Amino acid sequence: MTKFILVLASSVFVLATPIVSVTANAESFPPIENQTVIAECGECHMVFFAEMLPRKSWLRILNSLGNHYGEDASIDSGPLKEIITFHTSRASDVLNIRGAIKWREGLNKGEAPERITTAPRFIRKHADNDFAQMWTKFKVASKADCLACHKGATRGQFDDD
Ligand code: HEC
Ligand code: HEC
Repeated sequence: MTKFILVLASSVFVLATPIVSVTANAESFPPIENQTVIAECGECHMVFFAEMLPRKSWLRILNSLGNHYGEDASIDSGPLKEIITFHTSRASDVLNIRGAIKWREGLNKGEAPERITTAPRFIRKHADNDFAQMWTKFKVASKADCLACHKGATRGQFDDD
């Protein structure tokens, strides 16, 4: 039995090698370190990546937190200011890193999706059968529940399915 486990473990290692190199090129985002953002925007759902929406979307979302998708998510003006600066400076049409550039593709000038799940890149990436199958298999209730399908979502990794 011990021998069997060892064999299995070594073959997993061999298999894992190419997956690691794919990861280096796949979609990832720098982890969120701003403590105000983590505290205020991580209370009800995972902290979403600012790089996934343009500046105009964030301004609209963050200036109407009193009615946030049907919830009251209002914040005091001090922390709110910091959160607005954080999101607008990392927005898809502001920050020039790979993840942001990918999420600005397909957006018309001035277009401001209301959600990440209605942004063109989200729609394009989740249009196939894999998504439909995972949706049923994991009994997912909302498209916004990234973690149900992407185990590395909070670490900014979306290539793990
Ligand atoms: C009081 C709870 C609560 C807090 C606090 C909160 N949210 Fe939300 N948020 C929600 C709910 C509920 C939804 C809708 C989720 C759904 O449709 O599944 C949502 C959805 C979102 C969406 C859209 C997700 C999609 O469908 O693409 C974004 C973006 C978002 N929140 C950003 C934020 C940010 C930024 C903050 C911090 C300023 C924040 N939220 C704080 C409850 C909250
Ligand atoms: C029901 C399962 C499911 C949910 C929920 C889900 N995804 Fe996905 N996601 C997938 C599948 C399946 C793919 C396609 C993987 C592929 O193309 O290899 C994917 C692909 C992606 C990709 C592209 C990765 C790449 O390297 O091409 C990104 C980015 C992504 N998802 C982000 C999100 C975000 C952000 C959320 C939440 C707002 C989310 N997903 C919610 C299943 C899901």
